Amino acid sequence: MFFPEYRGRRLRRNENFRRMIRETHLRVDDLIYPMFSAFGENIKKEIPSMPGIYQQSIENIVAEAKEVYDLGIPAVILFGIPEFKDAVGQDAYSETGIIQETIRAIKKEVPELTVITDVCMCEYTDHGHCGIIKDGDVDNDETLNLLAAEALSHARAGADIVAPSDMMDGRVAAIREILDANDFSHIPVMSYAVKYASAYYGPFRDAADSTPQFGDRRSYQMDPANRMEAIREATLDVQECADFLMVKPALAYLDILRELKDRFDLPLVAYNVSGEYSMVKAAAEKDWIDGDRVMMETLLGMKRAGADLIITYHAKEAARLLK
Ligand code: PBG
Ligand code: ZN
Repeated sequence: MFFPEYRGRRLRRNENFRRMIRETHLRVDDLIYPMFSAFGENIKKEIPSMPGIYQQSIENIVAEAKEVYDLGIPAVILFGIPEFKDAVGQDAYSETGIIQETIRAIKKEVPELTVITDVCMCEYTDHGHCGIIKDGDVDNDETLNLLAAEALSHARAGADIVAPSDMMDGRVAAIREILDANDFSHIPVMSYAVKYASAYYGPFRDAADSTPQFGDRRSYQMDPANRMEAIREATLDVQECADFLMVKPALAYLDILRELKDRFDLPLVAYNVSGEYSMVKAAAEKDWIDGDRVMMETLLGMKRAGADLIITYHAKEAARLLK
């Protein structure tokens, strides 16, 4: 197969040919839409660095959840902004916490929409770290108890899938164990298996008011330089019975997505994070790029790299273009 007998351009000649040989497809079924649920009433506050994304009180979250469902997007992932934060993040595992109330409200009005919950402590702790602090660092094993309690309370409130994002060792097993012991063996765990300590989370931390008040997250989130470590993390989560694996962020880590897709036979999720969204929005606003086309190309690239599902703030816009 060589030039001039073989000519690659033959199969690119017209749109039907291009459709017929297209290898990767983005579908509305692949999308998961993140939402920020805030305490209070009548709140709809746009996040300055994330145009089109809001902190909203529950009635507005429910209205948007309906819109998401009507667009054909199968699932949302919820983040909570509680009224009060404290050292042990009590709202995270309270029966009447912000997320628990939000889940019940969505399930009442849009029962068919799949509700995934982010399981972590950083939105609920006054110090902004993803667990309990002991001697100036997050204490792994103490934190596991709280994460398990949080996941269980989400399941009790009606969550369909729990997604731990804290990067503590052993959290998938701890969550699986408590769910199974409480008649929630049918609830899957979507593990943020490979989560890097990334500057791309900047806008999210404004959105969730979850910036660490001291230090950073590098003692639990991964070093962006590491690939083998990603395989170790994913292997552990598979052994602990995770149902989905996630790579986060996505754009600068497409090689890791491919690596995990080739090695593991679990559904793979890419998190197209806040900073990735903000960059596209900012450049499009300046008319430096075609925002819609860059968005679709980026999401397609994540699928081509191996993602089965994509958590993305673009989900609604992408779904509209896919209709
Ligand atoms: C909480 C959490 C973060 C994100 C999802 N869950 C932020 C962080 O770890 O600081 C980031 C999402 C985004 O940037 O869109 N652990
Ligand atoms: Zn966290």
